[in-house]
Amino acid sequence: MSSGPAGPVHESLLDAVGATPLIRLNRVTAGLAAAVYVKAEFANPGGSVKDRAALAMIQEAERSGALAPGGTVVEGTSGNTGVGLAMVAARCGYRCVVVVPDRTAREKIALLRAYGAEVVLTPGLVPRDDPRHVIALAQRIAEQTPGGWLADQYTNPANPRVHELSTGPEIWAQTGGRITHFVAGVGTGGTISGTARYLREAGGGRVTVVGADPESSVYAGGDGSPYYVEAVGHYLHPETTQDVWPQVYDTGAVDRFERISDRESLLTARRLAREEGLLVGGSAGTAIAAALRVAATLGPDDVVVAVAPDSGRAYLSKYFDDDWLTQLGFLDAPGAPLVRDVAGNPAPGLFVAPSTHTVGAVLAAVPGDGPGAPGVVPVVHPRRTDATTWAAADIIGSVALDELRRLVTADPAVAGELVGRHAAAPLDTVGAGESAAAARARLGPGDGRPLLLLVDGRAVATVPRTGLG
Ligand SMILES: Cc1ncc(COP(=O)(O)O)c(C=O)c1O
Repeated sequence: MSSGPAGPVHESLLDAVGATPLIRLNRVTAGLAAAVYVKAEFANPGGSVKDRAALAMIQEAERSGALAPGGTVVEGTSGNTGVGLAMVAARCGYRCVVVVPDRTAREKIALLRAYGAEVVLTPGLVPRDDPRHVIALAQRIAEQTPGGWLADQYTNPANPRVHELSTGPEIWAQTGGRITHFVAGVGTGGTISGTARYLREAGGGRVTVVGADPESSVYAGGDGSPYYVEAVGHYLHPETTQDVWPQVYDTGAVDRFERISDRESLLTARRLAREEGLLVGGSAGTAIAAALRVAATLGPDDVVVAVAPDSGRAYLSKYFDDDWLTQLGFLDAPGAPLVRDVAGNPAPGLFVAPSTHTVGAVLAAVPGDGPGAPGVVPVVHPRRTDATTWAAADIIGSVALDELRRLVTADPAVAGELVGRHAAAPLDTVGAGESAAAARARLGPGDGRPLLLLVDGRAVATVPRTGLG
């Protein structure tokens, strides 16, 4: 325990937001010359960095009159902003409605309800211009609710400003002005934009700002395909006609990006729990993985600070669950042989039918009928023509090629139809590192169709079900 003054006494919960500790990493940094500190945003009373933005946005709305007593706070969010808003709304006596994408961790939804918020679930993987999109739906609810006020963290300037006024000055003071590198993920961009603005100015340009981005996020140049780390990066639905980045994200705030795979993010979060006793969420894993990469290039006078936006407690059934990770191909199970040992040697690359192609085009692209020719192929949202692996969530179905041939023989006009029209359910998936026996038991005899083999959460090949032994 630190021997210092006793902790602060607050007359209101709202005063407990911010002033979070800076915690030095000691074991995962072995061999590094630079110091790496974590800004422990999970220590906020609502459990995340988003308490800051939630409190600031509500206080600003009260000042401007946009939110009045008896009003309703509305937001569309994958969770933590909702929790912050629900917490502040509860303390201040507002009703709170939160629209949440259906992929959001169960625990986060339960948490919102625990604070008395009303939760509205909507599909997560829809284009931005779809009326069911999280933000569009929240907007509609706010408009249609008397006294409704949409917090809108994506455009609300109070979101980045609170980081310029609190997170940045705290880090500067806590490091005695010695910080040289600031590392954070970008969700709305509020944290990185506001904190960077302060640190740049305080350091006279000496502080380098590094964005930590999921590998397939479009912020740092990824193809926009789905990833497993929640709440950072920018996913792009393939049918999105116009990609809109959050207004509060100041792209000029970031000096450079480190692109971090799901595997590196999740395994870093797990290492932090086991080696540092620091239980943090996936986006903290992304930021700290980036911080460790950055620190590896630095010297003893450098001080790296990475933001840990929330705690790992919200992700116990995902990132900290061995079965979840193994079934997605992130981890190897104990108990050989593993699926990859028995599934033979699947041809590298996965033959797919892009949903935008016609039946005729897909059949023309099939590599013949010989041994090894695919019988059933996944139908995917196309991303890049040179892709060899596919995000499991981009796979929207599957087609049996002999069935397509039969349809075209019966009616040649079918060749001109989009292949997606003829797609059956997606194939079952199996993790490359699952124990073959456990996978057999989990999947059962099935329907004879092949399985999609997952490595690091992405489909890499199809394997025959019989290949599991
Ligand atoms: C867990 C987690 N990490 C990172 C972020 C990203 O922070 P920001 O929106 O300030 O970019 C969020 C935002 O909701 C979050 O909940």
